[in-house]
Amino acid sequence: MLYRIARPVLFALDPERAHHLAIAGLKALPADPARLGGPLETTVAGLTFPNPVGMAAGFDKEGEVPDALLGQGFGFAEAGSITPRPQAGNPRPRLFRLAEDRAVINRMGFNNGGAAAAAARLSARARHGIVGINIGANKDSADRVADYAQMTQVMAPLASYLAVNISSPNTPGLRALQDEGALIGLLDAVLEARGEAGPPVFLKVAPDLEPSDVEAIARIALDKQLGALIVSNTTIFRPPLRSHQANESGGLSGAPLRELALARLRDFRKASGGALPLIGVGGIASAEDAWERIRAGASLVQLYSAMVYEGPGIARRIVRGLEALMRRDRFGSIAEAVGSE
Ligand SMILES: Cc1cc2nc3c(=O)[nH]c(=O)nc-3n(C[C@H](O)[C@H](O)[C@H](O)COP(=O)(O)O)c2cc1C
Repeated sequence: MLYRIARPVLFALDPERAHHLAIAGLKALPADPARLGGPLETTVAGLTFPNPVGMAAGFDKEGEVPDALLGQGFGFAEAGSITPRPQAGNPRPRLFRLAEDRAVINRMGFNNGGAAAAAARLSARARHGIVGINIGANKDSADRVADYAQMTQVMAPLASYLAVNISSPNTPGLRALQDEGALIGLLDAVLEARGEAGPPVFLKVAPDLEPSDVEAIARIALDKQLGALIVSNTTIFRPPLRSHQANESGGLSGAPLRELALARLRDFRKASGGALPLIGVGGIASAEDAWERIRAGASLVQLYSAMVYEGPGIARRIVRGLEALMRRDRFGSIAEAVGSE
């Protein structure tokens, strides 16, 4: 209701300014976090989530509002991507609302205040609820693997899980870390930096992958015993779009990403035989979308773009809808429904 009033104001502003206002507004909203013990509670990678609906990375790049997001009913929140050193990101404009398409294009380029500032902020939290930290590499880094290892060391003590993001299209060359040889080296470095007692490591992949890439990534993820794969980041493809900004460069997210991200999730489910937890993200905007993703093999889901269009009430709406769909289809738990399509 409140968002129906706020949305025209936010949409009249430059999208990045609107984003900063949304972050500030979120801090002011009354918080009522989801509690454990409800019907949607689910355990993935040793972590127990009150519900499977999370906020995807990129909304809270600096780790400023993870608890405010949990306070809106999200089952978990992912801060980041955070890089070792602060960086400005790409020149503006770099964030575009494609309202006719219910989509977003961004080429932010990992703008963030760096690891030290984020770590100071995140270590001041009371540490309730599940907050993942998404880590990236600096654009001008001479050794990106070393960046990920350093980020792992700094962030592991502060994170419920670490999400290794090698799938942003906005840092040139980053996606090459998804190639088999590079990926093994990267994960070895991250897992060594994390140590035995550290949090689970999740890997976030692009939707723009060939079947052979999917096979290789799934095999490596299983071999390295990763906690989960996050499928997926934004796409560099451009399905038919109506908005005049359709040809802006960057990653596309929201409704036009839905089918592609769902198809890739199914590919990963098939390639991993259900042995590897998957987190479905891309174009999820309703309980039906979330349920379809779970039935296709996602143990958890995340969203970002839909919140731009629907406001923070979306978490509770999806959670309530999922409870009803689970009852309708006679499943006793989310875990039971995962991959049941
Ligand atoms: C403005 C914007 C910034 C993003 N920044 C990041 C980021 O820093 N790290 C990351 O892993 N994903 C980032 N993402 C990708 C989202 O986490 C998500 O994977 C993608 O948007 C698809 O989900 P959606 O369709 O629900 O938005 C960003 C997305 C948007 C729209």
